[in-house]
Amino acid sequence: MAKVKKAYFCRECGFEAPKWLGRCPSCGEWNTFAEEVIAKPASASAAVGVATPTTPPQRVSEIERSSHRRLDLNNSEVNRVLGGGLVPGSLILLGGEPGIGKSTLSLQLALSNHSLRTLYVSGEESAEQIGMRAERLGIANEECYIYSETLLENILLQIKQYQPDVVVIDSIQTIYTEMIDSSAGSVSQIRECAASLLKYAKTTSTSIFIIGHITKDGTIAGPKILEHIVDVVLQFEGDSNNVHRILRGIKNRFGATFEIGVFEMSESGLRAVENPSEILLSHYDEPLSGIAVGSSVDGIRPYLIEVQALVSNAAYGTPQRNATGYDQRRMNMLLAVLEKRVGLKMFQKDVFLNFAGGFKVADAGLDLAIVAAVISSYYDRPIADGVCCAGEIGLSGEVRPAPRSEQRVSEAARLGFRRIIVSGFLRKGVKMPTGIEAVYINNIGELPRALFCEEF
Ligand code: TYD
Ligand code: MG
Repeated sequence: MAKVKKAYFCRECGFEAPKWLGRCPSCGEWNTFAEEVIAKPASASAAVGVATPTTPPQRVSEIERSSHRRLDLNNSEVNRVLGGGLVPGSLILLGGEPGIGKSTLSLQLALSNHSLRTLYVSGEESAEQIGMRAERLGIANEECYIYSETLLENILLQIKQYQPDVVVIDSIQTIYTEMIDSSAGSVSQIRECAASLLKYAKTTSTSIFIIGHITKDGTIAGPKILEHIVDVVLQFEGDSNNVHRILRGIKNRFGATFEIGVFEMSESGLRAVENPSEILLSHYDEPLSGIAVGSSVDGIRPYLIEVQALVSNAAYGTPQRNATGYDQRRMNMLLAVLEKRVGLKMFQKDVFLNFAGGFKVADAGLDLAIVAAVISSYYDRPIADGVCCAGEIGLSGEVRPAPRSEQRVSEAARLGFRRIIVSGFLRKGVKMPTGIEAVYINNIGELPRALFCEEF
């Protein structure tokens, strides 16, 4: 087959060179050159069997709306993260660290709806291995086909023959096209394969899940363009020492992003956790210091999460600050506010912060809970059972309402919390549900008293 013409481009400034260079002569950046295809042979698209669509421009009112149609994947968590089901013809990128359960989740999706024909293509495992996994998952489905192959041309041929409604490609880094002679997993291979799959998905209304590996710094391996061309980017996260996994929507052309789905890895696959607060709150016989509960919202779903802080005397000159699953700079900011506005001597203290279940959080509405956990550990005084917090903290120590405060309060009430500490601004705006009492504070200086009542 005729090979294509290639060149090297700088990822930073776009400088073109005929061969790979370590340092870009134009912008001076190191290690930014990647191989790119600049001209394909004329027969290339015919070779992969994809016709170019030739629809003329249409009036917006004449365009057929297909957005109402959603395929039910028979998995409540995934359906929700996708915005209410799978849109036919969508291209979905599923990223995650090795061993987190991407293959398990996608095989489960391929097996779980009996009215959809699915094709699970694996470039990583043999058909026997996948068969064994399917057995372990305990779901039988006559409409699910398994295909172990790495050559894109063969994969497209089989897809055309079997005409599945849903295709899973496990993983984009292992498949390659003959059009390019670089090895599988290289930037140009990933790009070309993804582009061919995109064309196929859009012209035939087949939904395609593409599994992608994650690099050390947590981004999906391969060119950034991969994330641009797909409709939905999902990230599967979790701590491999922990059984809980989170499916997070990072980009979604058909629904809200930052929606999360929570799963528990069991002996027989991933089980949807419908009520995440259940797993994120521990139950202790007696209250412990350094633990606070925050009411958080991710996407449209509120949940309560336990924040754990440990404040101890710094052994060395520079105190240690360590946050797991949280932005350390934000933690430092909150500690500085505590020092200045409440007068705690944080500069002499090591501070460690952690969230239950290995959760990663970025919700500013948890500020108050984080500070409460730090204060509780600092004074070594436990916070009473049934108390939780929701609020943002500003640099001058003011407590602001967290977004979607109403939902946070109702979730806390639903789970039987008796008292919630929130911003004084909510006095008028939010009606408190029965069974929960609100403690309004305007400034972080009022927090110790709100937490421990009388003595402060
Ligand atoms: P896998 O889906 O192969 O991960 P990835 O494709 O993201 O690399 O993941 C699997 C891990 O999950 C593996 O360590 C075994 C475990 N596992 C279970 O605990 N229960 C199960 O039912 C299955 C299928 C896997
Ligand atoms: Mg895998």
